[in-house]
Amino acid sequence: ILLWSPTLQVRTGTRGDKKNLGSFRRRRSGEPPLDKGPLPWLGHVLDFRRDPVNFLKKMQKKHGDIFTVEAQEKLDFSIFAEQMVRRVFGYHALEEDHQLALLSTKKHLMGDGLELMTQAMMTNLQKLMLHSLGSARGSNPWTEDSLYRFSYNIVFRAGYLAIFGTASSESAGTLQKADEQDRLESEELFLEFRKYDQLVSDLAYGVLHPRRKMEAERLKRLFWRALSVEKVREKDNTSRWVTEQCQEREERGVQRPMLGRFMLVLLFVSQGNTGPSAFWLLFYLMRHPEAMKAVQEEVDRVLKETGQQVYPGGPPIDLTRDMLLRTPVLDSAVEETLRLTAAALLTRSVVQDMKLKMANGREFALRKGDWMSLFPYVAAQMDPSVHPEPHIFKYDRFLTPQGTKKTDFYKDGKKLKFYNMPWGAGVSMCPGRFFASNELKQFVFLMLTYFDLELLRPDEEFTAADMTRWGIGLTHPTRDVRFRYQLRF
Ligand code: HEM
Repeated sequence: ILLWSPTLQVRTGTRGDKKNLGSFRRRRSGEPPLDKGPLPWLGHVLDFRRDPVNFLKKMQKKHGDIFTVEAQEKLDFSIFAEQMVRRVFGYHALEEDHQLALLSTKKHLMGDGLELMTQAMMTNLQKLMLHSLGSARGSNPWTEDSLYRFSYNIVFRAGYLAIFGTASSESAGTLQKADEQDRLESEELFLEFRKYDQLVSDLAYGVLHPRRKMEAERLKRLFWRALSVEKVREKDNTSRWVTEQCQEREERGVQRPMLGRFMLVLLFVSQGNTGPSAFWLLFYLMRHPEAMKAVQEEVDRVLKETGQQVYPGGPPIDLTRDMLLRTPVLDSAVEETLRLTAAALLTRSVVQDMKLKMANGREFALRKGDWMSLFPYVAAQMDPSVHPEPHIFKYDRFLTPQGTKKTDFYKDGKKLKFYNMPWGAGVSMCPGRFFASNELKQFVFLMLTYFDLELLRPDEEFTAADMTRWGIGLTHPTRDVRFRYQLRF
């Protein structure tokens, strides 16, 4: 698919299958260069874990755009592969899982289904963000907070409530009590999710320290209980995305305890990337006043065009899906944010010996049983010949001079199809991408409509991205940044 990209071809093997293991591998004619790494059996695992981007760049410089490294079991790149889902979430996947997930996501997170989900997200964002608003005219109208914690917290909790459902007002007594229950329960879940989130990368690569393994086990069990089918069935407004997927697996004989584990997969896949992206989006807007001004003007214009206004005691704004389709500037800022921060490794296993043709015309032989990984972060997103000054946030990078979406990007004079791949590509391209972009846009739309925002130390050194998360999905900042906000009215 991305033929000019640096392609990391990874060899994996099982312990009993010694002849497949790295040290015995010999390069066959026509295959990409083989690099065995400094350590027998372990190959390049440690180097890769320390700094994946530099590792891949180093290899690319040494061997070109395609090369084979030795990985052994421990370097298991296939995020959604059966072993990974089992190791990280405890879920034993069905053969048809991938297909079921795609069909259900298409039905409920795209088209008409997306309309319902966007409404549910809006209701829950407002429930969390606007419930205890004072007034801009209070004695100290500013609230200080940490931006990463704040953004991740709001987007995670609203997304969780929109997808897994809300407390039943009948059981809680009143709607207000049910809302309060939602706020408390989602806060507790978020705190535990953050702990788990910090272990996932090591869990996925199979390098978690034994002491931390016990903590991971405790957290997994907590989520399996909190997300059990029985608990979710007590709720109101559970999305069809969840209920249908559970029902389909139940019909195929999956037992209730295993369904709780499946729910954890759904929680992680739907919440693990959106909160961190919301942080980066707001952070870049605050760091770049010209970008903030352009997005703010667009948000104010769209609100005005729909005859809405915010004022003390007034009704919450009604932000429809149609309004979210009229924000090219915000769209470009979202795409630029993801270009800079989404760094997933896209893995395919080679099911039969085959030839891979690169963009420069060279052909390479790929061996059955090997895995091939693409890392579009290095290959496309940060390529200076595709995106000049790739480390700089340019909110209008994906806008044409006419203010529409820009899709013309070139490399060596050739128009590119894949110039930004935060959602992956091909058969496993993120099916939740329309919902995820809407979530990000809704969050920023509400923040800019209701609040003035500023970083407390705008000139502070840039918070670098956490290297150990490259290859997993959205990068996290290495530390949080302080900001403050106050009501605009
Ligand atoms: C900014 C947020 C998000 C990003 C950057 C993101 C990115 C990705 C990527 C890179 C993949 C793997 C693609 C591949 O291997 O080719 C993926 C898979 C997936 N994503 Fe997302 N995602 C996000 C949010 C969401 C949300 C909100 C949902 C659902 C509510 C979702 C549902 C899924 C599912 C179900 C898969 C697995 C698809 C399969 O089995 O092939 N994602 N996502």
